[in-house]
Amino acid sequence: MCGIVGYIGTQHNPKEVLLEGLKKLEYRGYDSAGIAWIENNRTHIVKCKGKISELEKHVATINIQGTIALGHTRWATHGKPSTINAHPHQVGDVTVVHNGIVENFSALKTELEAKGYQFKSETDTEVIACLIKNELETASSFENAVLCAVKQMNGSYAIAVMSERKPGTLVAVKKASPLVLGLGKKECFLASDIPALLKFTNQVVYLEDYELASITENRVSYYDKNGTAISKQVHKITWTAQMAEKGGFEHFMLKEIFEQPQAIIHTLSGKLSPNQDAVELPIHNDFFKNTTNIYLVACGTAWHASLVGKYLIEKIARRRVEVDLASEFRYRHPILSKNDVVIVTSQSGETADSLAALQLAKEKGAKTLAICNVKESSIARLADEVLYTEAGPEIGVASTKAFTTQLLIFNLLALYLENTPQKEKILNLTRLPFFMEQVLHQAEEIKKIATKHYKKIAALYMGRDILYPIALEGALKLKEISYIHAHGYPAGEMKHGPIALVDSNLPVIALIPDDDFFDKMMSNIEEVRAREGIVIAFSQRPIPMAHHNIILPLTPWHLNPFLFALPMQLLAYYMARCKGTDIDQPKNLAKSVTVE
Ligand code: G6P
Repeated sequence: MCGIVGYIGTQHNPKEVLLEGLKKLEYRGYDSAGIAWIENNRTHIVKCKGKISELEKHVATINIQGTIALGHTRWATHGKPSTINAHPHQVGDVTVVHNGIVENFSALKTELEAKGYQFKSETDTEVIACLIKNELETASSFENAVLCAVKQMNGSYAIAVMSERKPGTLVAVKKASPLVLGLGKKECFLASDIPALLKFTNQVVYLEDYELASITENRVSYYDKNGTAISKQVHKITWTAQMAEKGGFEHFMLKEIFEQPQAIIHTLSGKLSPNQDAVELPIHNDFFKNTTNIYLVACGTAWHASLVGKYLIEKIARRRVEVDLASEFRYRHPILSKNDVVIVTSQSGETADSLAALQLAKEKGAKTLAICNVKESSIARLADEVLYTEAGPEIGVASTKAFTTQLLIFNLLALYLENTPQKEKILNLTRLPFFMEQVLHQAEEIKKIATKHYKKIAALYMGRDILYPIALEGALKLKEISYIHAHGYPAGEMKHGPIALVDSNLPVIALIPDDDFFDKMMSNIEEVRAREGIVIAFSQRPIPMAHHNIILPLTPWHLNPFLFALPMQLLAYYMARCKGTDIDQPKNLAKSVTVE
């Protein structure tokens, strides 16, 4: 969702910093883009509907002379994607970019209209600019005007503001949407996410909710919501700029699919005892003591990982686990007590519903644990304990390496909670990258299947037991990037509805491990064949009755979710590639869903 970039200083060309930064935020999903800068005490704005490449054309001949600038990619919430609704928004001398939703914008707009203000766009952001402009007329300082304005707003926001009255200062403030500052020598950067800054600096400061940063070329001052000065910690980022590059792959998604064996190695590192017979997690020893219920809460792909987590923790550690979608959990009045553990899983650590679910769990006194990929993200910072997936930056909107590293954390948690020696299962996990490589070697075979079926309009995925969530994830991947309607189903439920859809045009993707359910899966395939469905089988032994069959390595059951997830990702990727869709930035989707 919306991306913010800001720059103040003379060390770099502001236009380059903004365009470079906005491109790095493209993964968040957007439909329009714009930049603004102050030059000779006058604000200039260039914005347009469409991609950054479009914006680049509009600014190609402009040479920015100013030293203060803001950039933005907009994912439409209030008002359709259009040039007029694109950010930055200017009201008088005040210019604002914003990520989030101002829930009471309509009431605020009416009040401001009564005071004589007129609005050009349909956005809530123009209301913010107007509020700040209005406060500036009476406030003691630029910073106080911004604080007074945000106090009137409900909802979520990350805002960066500049004013012609104070052309040497950029003000930033946030609530429930991310904002990070990058510190340089005689320059300062601002962004919604680290990759936008990495080329210029690795020294960053994360703004917390309600904190305000007043940024000049040489100094940043931080304030709490009452305007009292506070100090902030500077963090050093260990990701390199190259880690957020495509590295010769056609798409980030493909690169990230192939990075999974390495991501597993990094995530496993430091979480095993020296002789590899026990799991050692960086959480408090007593964290799970006296635990009654474990709740796994997440959105999207992270929810699928949590479903796998339930099978793992219940089977291995024999602990009762409930799994919830964060958007349901936060409103269903869950019964929680101090003996419950709520585990929130999120790649970005910024998903609005997951963050709200975590806040609710904390308010109700439950113990909270975050599984996150992005260091110091909002969810990671709010939870009592955090376990990081070490997948590195995931740029493709469709989650891949974050998913399999989440599966690894759930494997580790299950073993951590089991109180018996676990050497064999741990050994299996250390061999996992090798098995994953074997599956990735079959990419060309999977591509051939995609080439044959990418014109189909729907697909059905079926699996049982721990592979049922992988069927859901396979269907989600296909929907997200190829726009083919896809449905994941527990194979045992096929008769209760989905089988009505089966005909000679419907590919049915069957996940068939060589386990106790093998015969049952074979019966399900017979049923599909009897109705002329196209069977695409991923199995651990040959399935002669399938139209297409990819054979995966035979591994212990707790590794199966990883090995079956990889071909689901590849199949979706190649189907989308054949269709020619925008794989890394699929339409209407965002990587980091920071609004409800
Ligand atoms: C969006 C992304 C998905 C992701 C979901 C949850 O929908 O497109 O790929 O699974 O958000 O995101 P999170 O960052 O919380 O894992």
